[in-house]
Amino acid sequence: MVEDLKRLLLVVLAVLWLLSSAQAGNTDRLSGHHCTDFQTANFLRGSKLKVQFLLFTSSSPSCGELILADDGIKNGSFNSSSETKIIIHGFRALGTKPSWIEGLVQAILHTSQVNVIAVDWVYGSTGAYASAVENVTQLALSISQFISKLLALGVSRTSIHIIGVSLGAHVGGLVGHFHGGQLGRITALDPAGPKYTRASPEERLDPGDALFVEAVHTDADNFGIRIPVGHIDYFVNGGKDQPGCPRFISAGLLEQAGVNMSKLPKEVKVYLMTSPSAPFCVYHSLVEFHLQKKRNRVTSIEITFFSNSTQDTAKITIPTHQDMGKRLLAHQVPLCQINSVTLKYIPKNRFWRKDEPSIVGKFCVAPLPLSSSRTMSCLPWNLTLPSKTDISYDLPTACA
Ligand SMILES: *[C@@H]1O[C@H](CO)[C@@H](O)[C@H](O)[C@H]1NC(C)=O
Ligand SMILES: *[C@@H]1O[C@H](CO)[C@@H](O)[C@H](O)[C@H]1NC(C)=O
Ligand SMILES: *[C@@H]1O[C@H](CO)[C@@H](O)[C@H](O)[C@H]1NC(C)=O
Ligand SMILES: *[C@@H]1O[C@H](CO)[C@@H](O)[C@H](O)[C@H]1NC(C)=O
Ligand SMILES: *[C@@H]1O[C@H](CO)[C@@H](O)[C@H](O)[C@H]1NC(C)=O
Ligand SMILES: *[C@@H]1O[C@H](CO)[C@@H](O)[C@H](O)[C@H]1NC(C)=O
Repeated sequence: MVEDLKRLLLVVLAVLWLLSSAQAGNTDRLSGHHCTDFQTANFLRGSKLKVQFLLFTSSSPSCGELILADDGIKNGSFNSSSETKIIIHGFRALGTKPSWIEGLVQAILHTSQVNVIAVDWVYGSTGAYASAVENVTQLALSISQFISKLLALGVSRTSIHIIGVSLGAHVGGLVGHFHGGQLGRITALDPAGPKYTRASPEERLDPGDALFVEAVHTDADNFGIRIPVGHIDYFVNGGKDQPGCPRFISAGLLEQAGVNMSKLPKEVKVYLMTSPSAPFCVYHSLVEFHLQKKRNRVTSIEITFFSNSTQDTAKITIPTHQDMGKRLLAHQVPLCQINSVTLKYIPKNRFWRKDEPSIVGKFCVAPLPLSSSRTMSCLPWNLTLPSKTDISYDLPTACA
């Protein structure tokens, strides 16, 4: 569960940078009614799911308004002409409120005037993972009924955006399924893997569950699902372990980002990288090494980019009998601020067979994305790289 907590903590870290100026107020509510928080389930959890729907709006981003029934929705601060984002958390081993909820709610409200509804199902999500999974269908039914009430108030289906974390992603999938796949959008953050990887599309999140389904994979080697589940699946840093403390990119999350809902790709996998510290964004460059002569063994070359204040490394591997290897190198400053590059040839010595003492070839680099105006630039032929030695070159790339 440490993994689970770590993962979710990331989410907070990721969204907090959006909030640099936003103050997390306490519990003041302009409209006068009191704030409701998440419940805490203890070991004596009952047989009731005790689902709570908490409404947050930009007039009171840190005060949850408990929504009980139709009346509660009508009389509250819910604005049926605005978009509605419904956040569904996942498995909560200890039955506690997810620590990232507040950060996520406030980050959304900081950038857009929407209704944010946090679904509290800590009672059903606690104990063993398997029993949380057993409660998923019933939970999805009550969220679906809740959405039906919103629709009855004149809310449009396409204005509903479900954000599901981990197990909550599959709950969101079921909710979308119950609404015939006609809700606007589902964003799955680190959709859960256990019990879902081999499930049928009806049982798990799939692209049929909403007009637009996207998933951000950040733990695919542990509790996260490995398979694509949306129209677009982002595999952050390869989708597995995250550098530093893991985190995610919220910019796909907060806006429609120009997505044309009438023409969607299916199961597009998108890979991206992040840096280990705020603001997490990185620049990507394609680095290549061309060998002068093909070799009958694998060649590894470590590439390090240096700027005045940063240093970023990637390893190029050239397969046996091939003359070129390439790799994506993520760096914290734009390529034009990179002053020098070091190349280090790492020989694979075995005691019965020593690798060659040096290799010769050409190094090339291009900032991504590649476009017709930005082509690869190469260090002049022919570099000789002695084994295990850092060879440093100036990288004369000027900022435009
Ligand atoms: C949730 O699942 C557990 C395990 O099956 C069960 O004991 C509990 O009654 C379920 N809760 C609800 C509300 O169905
Ligand atoms: C909402 O307003 C209606 C009509 O004014 C009233 O009957 C109902 O009790 C109110 N509900 C709540 C939860 O305040
Ligand atoms: C409700 O939302 C719409 C669209 O976002 C906005 O134009 C309107 O002013 C809002 N109404 C209230 C009472 O905030
Ligand atoms: C979205 O795609 C459809 C079909 O390709 C096209 O007719 C429509 O103009 C597009 N809408 C926008 C806003 O680009
Ligand atoms: C890096 O340091 C050099 C020498 O101090 C300076 O001229 C240059 O402007 C610095 N570059 C950046 C991007 O800060
Ligand atoms: C670099 O190596 C290539 C391939 O062997 C060769 O054709 C070329 O002449 C060399 N260039 C220089 C400048 O040595």
